[in-house]
Amino acid sequence: MALPAMTCKLILDVDTGADDAVAIMLAALHPALDLVACTTVNGNLPVPYCTANTLRVLDHIGRQDIEVYEGASHPFARDDFPVASAVRDSAGKLHGEVLPVTDSKRAKADMDAVDFLIETYRAATDEVTLVAVAPLTNIAHALTRDPGLVKRIPEIVIMGGGHAIGNITPSAEFNIWCDPEAARVVFHAGFEKLTLVPLDATHQAVVSNASCARLEALGTPAGAAASRFIRRCIAFCDQLGTMQPGTAPVHDALCVAFLVEPSIITTTRAHVDVETKGELTIGRTVINCDRRPGLLPDCDVAFGADGDRFLELLLRTFA
Ligand code: BDR
Ligand code: CA
Repeated sequence: MALPAMTCKLILDVDTGADDAVAIMLAALHPALDLVACTTVNGNLPVPYCTANTLRVLDHIGRQDIEVYEGASHPFARDDFPVASAVRDSAGKLHGEVLPVTDSKRAKADMDAVDFLIETYRAATDEVTLVAVAPLTNIAHALTRDPGLVKRIPEIVIMGGGHAIGNITPSAEFNIWCDPEAARVVFHAGFEKLTLVPLDATHQAVVSNASCARLEALGTPAGAAASRFIRRCIAFCDQLGTMQPGTAPVHDALCVAFLVEPSIITTTRAHVDVETKGELTIGRTVINCDRRPGLLPDCDVAFGADGDRFLELLLRTFA
């Protein structure tokens, strides 16, 4: 695929997943983006399913050239965390084990995702943005094994957390809740440029059934698949009654949209930490919005998003 002169290279860390799949298609098809590879991790589904779904989605849009590296199958620091059952009971129904596109005939890459991240950033001569839209297990392992990595990653964009909203508990968002210790390692690592896209922003960029009809009407593989994936999320949200009926957020794709159109989100600089112990609050992102003293702002946190521009970007790219 011919790329325009100025492209943004990125690696996507995913737990594919319906909204991950839309993010992957946006990253793989937008002419200003160069998707170097996908890495997968345990999250929405056990990691082998996430890997298979990632391969499937890339093949569906003709991007068999993009390799998929499989990563962690368990949380960073705990064996006892009930991720698998939560995934089965809740997110499993949201995402479905197998995304509804034809199975891929190719295999995942031989190398492990954590090795791939470490080696790619050691060898990189261009800037490669890391976009993490899943539990942060792979990134935490990579940072722990290679402490120099944090300085080699020029920018990291994370979908996760929530200030006013939770979606797996009243306090916590799914990606951070799945592996709070990993998230803590990542937020404490000292990244030069870290953007957090929490639920507060993604819930402002919901896609409706009517918008899915527009995506489907594009008559392209990406438009048809996006419509199918998002309609499933809408049905799930309607069942839960957590969103305006007939709409759903497409969390992960908003992070990719931000790379192309940074002003699609509005951010505030704040210190971010993660609760790893609280009985009711485990996995909560603790965001110092009031700028209480002693906590240096270290993160651009998105509290707003432009849903109309987000939809137009999806429509343009998937056409
Ligand atoms: C996040 O959790 C997952 O279910 C989605 O793929 C997204 O990354 C939203 O809370
Ligand atoms: Ca995800």
